[in-house]
Amino acid sequence: MDPRLTKLVESLELSKVLMIKICQAFQRHLSQGLLIHKNGGIPGEDVSICSLKMLDSCITNIPSGKETGVCYGLDFGGSNFRAVKAVLCGKGRIEIFQNSASLKESFQGHCPEGLVHAEVPGTHLFDRFSLQLKDLIDHREDTPMECSMNAENNPAVVPLGFTFSFPCLQESLNAARLITWTKEIETGRATECKVEGKDVAKMLQEAFLRHSIPARVFAVINDTVGTLISCAYQKSEDDPDCLIGLILGTGSNVCYYEPMAQEFNYKGNVINLEYGSFFDPILPRNEVDIELDRSSSNPGGQSFEKLVSGRYIGELVQKYCMKLDDPAVLDLLETYILDTKDAAALATLETSNPTSSNIVNTMKRILPSSTVNILKALSLAIFNRSADLISCSLAATVLRIITYSPEISRLSIGVDGSLILKNEFYFERVTCGISSLIESAGKKCDVKLIPTDDGSGKGAALVAFVASRS
Ligand code: GLC
Repeated sequence: MDPRLTKLVESLELSKVLMIKICQAFQRHLSQGLLIHKNGGIPGEDVSICSLKMLDSCITNIPSGKETGVCYGLDFGGSNFRAVKAVLCGKGRIEIFQNSASLKESFQGHCPEGLVHAEVPGTHLFDRFSLQLKDLIDHREDTPMECSMNAENNPAVVPLGFTFSFPCLQESLNAARLITWTKEIETGRATECKVEGKDVAKMLQEAFLRHSIPARVFAVINDTVGTLISCAYQKSEDDPDCLIGLILGTGSNVCYYEPMAQEFNYKGNVINLEYGSFFDPILPRNEVDIELDRSSSNPGGQSFEKLVSGRYIGELVQKYCMKLDDPAVLDLLETYILDTKDAAALATLETSNPTSSNIVNTMKRILPSSTVNILKALSLAIFNRSADLISCSLAATVLRIITYSPEISRLSIGVDGSLILKNEFYFERVTCGISSLIESAGKKCDVKLIPTDDGSGKGAALVAFVASRS
């Protein structure tokens, strides 16, 4: 192997011993976070003790799959957002109707980045969400016959769940204060009308009022929570209980069902770890990771997310490829920014078949095959590092659950996000990684990863439905 490549790839490999240590460090931060919360402190404030935010979801009821009715959701977690109408048909079946939009296209003013730019006042963002919902409500007669048999008649004021996938301090199910933006979103930062520090349920309700939209925010949830809830509703009865929700797309995060939540002073049983901010000296960050962090919108923040999630993998692959100092590669990548889809196409490249990525096809055309193979090996190493780190965090969460509830011998993890759902090799690696770490800890638990498409939108509607009935 080319010595330059060997060195780069080696710097990305995680040995089993290191994975065990990362898993143990994660368990330590998790236990510390629970204790801090129990004593009235804020997990995540002193990152040397606990870098996870461990937020209260205020969710107490996990649906059984038997609920029937109609409810709405708004789902915002990155550069897209959508309004969802969910028809709960019982027997774990949900029909959804949705309309989505991109925040980049939605603001044609002076900010080319659209509504996620720091100079856009927060109210503009919430106005845009409410108009998306209005559009869906105006077409609400589209309920399918089969389901409408069980569904409620359309109420005058629709119950709504808001999936807002950013760290929020949740005082109750329908009051959630944004702590800080993540995933490079910056709306309102440079204006008088900020979103950070504000209650996003209130901002959304005020936007409904401005536009005379007959909807009431019953719940604000994180996308991980939506995924756990909708997996619990939809999974087959033979599958084990769903106790963990994982998102692995633009951002990455986990929530889990904590059996002793009340003892640690939580109002709900589901804790949103906000593990994107996980930081421990044991984490393998090298010079490229540090470079990427410096040029991000929140240097020093979201260290774990910058190693694993879709928002950053393309950029990491790009930066590593440029480290090879190959003039032809530099030439190509100086005028093109790789995204995570390109990186995945590169990692799984088969020389005989064309890929879905234009840039990777161009690489195949103009670079010598030995160079393309080097780029492929680098890209694969970055995906594998991400999968291994995710295995460490999930195994740590499973170990937390089974150590304190030894009667649990099997559990499901609801999984959503294109990085894990669209890349089979990645999904497999995470599944094997978790089992092997649990075994190394001397424990037993069958863990099943259940793909839960659209979990965040459906979950919000489900939670709002349950809340509107209690
Ligand atoms: C970021 C957000 C977190 C969300 C995750 C996945 O890490 O801070 O709340 O769950 O992205 O979308």
